[in-house]
Amino acid sequence: MKSYFLNRPDEKTLDRDVLILPFAQTTIDGQKKALPLFSIELPSPIADAIDLILRNKAFQGDLEELFVHHIHLPIDRRILFVGLGSLEDDSFIDDTRASFAKAMKFLKKERNVRSVSLCMPKDSRNKNALFQAVFEGVGFGLYAFRKYMTKNTLSSTEDLFEEIYYITDDIPVASEIEARSSIVLSAITSVRDLVNMNACEATPQALAAASLELTKIPGIEVSCYDSTWIRNQKMGLVQAVGQGAANTPMFVVIDWKGATSDRTVFIGKGVTYDTGGLNIKPTGSMETMRADMAGAAALIGLMNAVGHLKLPIWITAVLPLVENAVDANSMRPGDVYVSRKGTTVEIGNTDAEGRLILADAMDYAVTDLNPARIIDVATLTGASEVALGTQISALFSNNNLIAEAIERASIVSGEPIHRLPLYKKYFSLLKSDFADMKNVTGTRVGGAINAALFLEHFIGKTAWAHLDIAGPSYLKDGKGIYGPGATSIPMRTLLAYCDELAVRKI
Ligand code: BES
Ligand code: ZN
Ligand code: ZN
Repeated sequence: MKSYFLNRPDEKTLDRDVLILPFAQTTIDGQKKALPLFSIELPSPIADAIDLILRNKAFQGDLEELFVHHIHLPIDRRILFVGLGSLEDDSFIDDTRASFAKAMKFLKKERNVRSVSLCMPKDSRNKNALFQAVFEGVGFGLYAFRKYMTKNTLSSTEDLFEEIYYITDDIPVASEIEARSSIVLSAITSVRDLVNMNACEATPQALAAASLELTKIPGIEVSCYDSTWIRNQKMGLVQAVGQGAANTPMFVVIDWKGATSDRTVFIGKGVTYDTGGLNIKPTGSMETMRADMAGAAALIGLMNAVGHLKLPIWITAVLPLVENAVDANSMRPGDVYVSRKGTTVEIGNTDAEGRLILADAMDYAVTDLNPARIIDVATLTGASEVALGTQISALFSNNNLIAEAIERASIVSGEPIHRLPLYKKYFSLLKSDFADMKNVTGTRVGGAINAALFLEHFIGKTAWAHLDIAGPSYLKDGKGIYGPGATSIPMRTLLAYCDELAVRKI
């Protein structure tokens, strides 16, 4: 799809298949009314039609309300009214993103839409954020994972449109924000594609190859290490998780050195498929486990975006990549393994594998990368989803400044998070009779906290935050701006965090 910018409707606007118009909602004398959010003059047949529709209250500008009007000019064209809800709502920016995503989802299903015009909404308070929300909404709404769809299905490429004309009275700002948004959106698409892909394709080797692609961006360096290096590093926990799989483990380090000091290390759980291991998952819990590398994928996307945006910060992504398979060589419940840190770990449950690979990756980051702070992202526990549902990620941190910075970033991105406690007294539940620690507590309660406490042991004193994205990183049915499948959460939050890092070091 190609984007163009116009500062007023050109003579061709009416030739395009659909004209998209945004409206907010106001209440006048207790009556809800749609308020046009565009300032351009429309030709009279269209302006008259809009007047009539608004007077009849056929469309009231409700959040995510859509209304299609067919007009004959002298050929048939469609006008799509998009409701953004109340301007006064705190969530207006998020609502705008959601409304445009819904409009695009709608248009994807319409026949004969090749070319559209879109009037940008106006709101003098926060133009940049509003424009960004529009472009993101359009990008999210248009995303579809079609890799395994053969040509003749409804959602194949043929119904997606080719060009979009943005009409705005501020072309310089709109095109600048669009340029940034398209960098971010292509990173997001790469994340969602990697997560949605078959686990037999998105193997540790394939994720390493996808990471290597980032070296095309000047300034990004990628190191891909194989199982021999992992053994030499004494990463006994990464090895243990990966030893049952035909696709052997990989360990990837991606570096962007846009500043010479103050290094932030991100670590992403990259379990390319989680069968649960010998503690095999039941039907109903395994079907989505190709998405158990969503943390690693989000970091590949983050590095892609930060490299293209050339942010003046030093960040490094560390990706332990393994498949948790069932096999004669699989680690067994009751086995004890030695971690890179030296702590011995009894495997109480082979399905608690994410914390094992993260533990070795964290120890590597702490001892070898001299990080100012570490942030890990992981589809770590079903318990976090039980606690917070499918839309909210769990945040844990041993440092209030980092936690608060991530909370701010989450408000900017519109990807909700909620902080849970690293409650020290639960740590004793991880005691083992045969090793220094166990990887599970033996009870289901407090599962997200217990997993975070396990990780904290391997972080030591380093400032650290942990995001448990088990719920929101993948949505079976889709919701809001997301279709079914991968969401790219928390990539946009981490990018907003990096934007803040570029200004102050927290
Ligand atoms: N990958 C899962 C967590 C998960 C669950 C991610 C649902 C996405 C959606 C993780 O490896 C796991 O299986 N955790 C166990 C831990 C338990 C054995 C202590 C869990 O959550 O049940
Ligand atoms: Zn598991
Ligand atoms: Zn897992």
